[in-house]
Amino acid sequence: MPNTTKFPRSFTWGVATSAFQIEGAAAEDGKGPSIWDTFTHHPGNVIDASNGDIACDHYHRYVDDVGIMASLGVDAYRFSMAWSRVQPEGKGAWNEKGFDFYDRLLDELAQKELAAHLTLYHWDLPQGLQQDGGWLNRDTCLRFADYAQEVARRFGSRAATIATHNEPWCSANLGYGNAQFAPGIADAKAAIQVSHHLLLSHGLAMQAMRTVGAPAKLGIVLNQWTADPATDSEADRAMAQLEYARSVQWFMDPIFKGCYPALALKSHGENCPIIHPNDFTDIRQPLDFLGVNYYFRSFCSAETPPKKPEGKLGFTDMGWEIYPQGLTELLIALKQEYTLPPIYITENGMANPDKLVNGQIPDIERITYVRSHLNALANAMAQGVDIQGYFLWSLLDNFEWNSGYAKRFGIVHVDYETQQRTLKDSAIWYREFIRAQRLA
Ligand code: FCB
Repeated sequence: MPNTTKFPRSFTWGVATSAFQIEGAAAEDGKGPSIWDTFTHHPGNVIDASNGDIACDHYHRYVDDVGIMASLGVDAYRFSMAWSRVQPEGKGAWNEKGFDFYDRLLDELAQKELAAHLTLYHWDLPQGLQQDGGWLNRDTCLRFADYAQEVARRFGSRAATIATHNEPWCSANLGYGNAQFAPGIADAKAAIQVSHHLLLSHGLAMQAMRTVGAPAKLGIVLNQWTADPATDSEADRAMAQLEYARSVQWFMDPIFKGCYPALALKSHGENCPIIHPNDFTDIRQPLDFLGVNYYFRSFCSAETPPKKPEGKLGFTDMGWEIYPQGLTELLIALKQEYTLPPIYITENGMANPDKLVNGQIPDIERITYVRSHLNALANAMAQGVDIQGYFLWSLLDNFEWNSGYAKRFGIVHVDYETQQRTLKDSAIWYREFIRAQRLA
């Protein structure tokens, strides 16, 4: 595949991480526990029985890590704040030492001329709020809006963007639907109510942050996919349509249209969420940007056993099908259906069983993956979709949730024994790709 894809000069090139996956310092400087601290310390929840106590020790190594980003020549860094670091209980007192960490990180980024793209919630709810029912409790939405407003007040002039949530589909469906993620609840009805509360909390947080009048652009990050029928059969096509309605449209419609998609609502039957009269007015707030995370498509087969995708380009170490054209198709579909704000691709990347070979990590698979997805992105842009930037997931190998440290997503290798960072070949390739874009 040629290296010829061209992007506008103003395009933002970035890397992404999240707090729980890299920071460590789980109980340092007054940080309270989050639901992921609790979940990971419960045997059986994480494949390799690991946790986030130390992770990449980024809390202590952020200066070096920002230095690595600067050496790669990226423009921007997407990271999340750990709510329980700055407000240990999720309500009540703020923890100044927690805010100090993000203050230092923002200073370091500014010094290296890297734009900060901040996410408020990347799945790590303060455990104190879980005790009160977590996202099943409507009151958590108000707590979240308070937290969002405080962050906007303190940091809203130093962050380029602030996203409310990262992938609420995952928080709801993996956290409450099938117990794969914290808080580890398996209850279909609860998952749907939680998804509604997450959307409501997004809307309330947007309004609370707007009152501050900070220059940061405000939005949300959603994980999305196209849903393709495995065959042309009516059953497969119906399944694909329903899957798209329950995942992509379930989050997009309330934000952009002020309602849930009828098909999905009908299918949820008795599990439909309790919705208060003004909820959709609160949720439907204008966005300055939409973050889209894309990893794979959804392949829908109604047969038993279900048909699997062929995977012409292979599968990643997560078992996820490599399907770059899905990114083009998704973005075009979104543009056709919604009046969109500018989009950032806030995550895209792959897990690969990378090995150090004579001091190098030849992750050619990742280079091919990223390059093909950038081509797919350029195709969507050529067809008129307004994309402002791309954030590669991830800067570092890190704690991959219930897969622990077994799955490596970084363009920088981390030796967890020594915390040594080593650039993989993909990091060097990304650096050169970005440089070539600037020269072009
Ligand atoms: C996304 C998450 C991110 C990371 C990648 C691989 O769903 O937002 O934290 O785990 O998947």
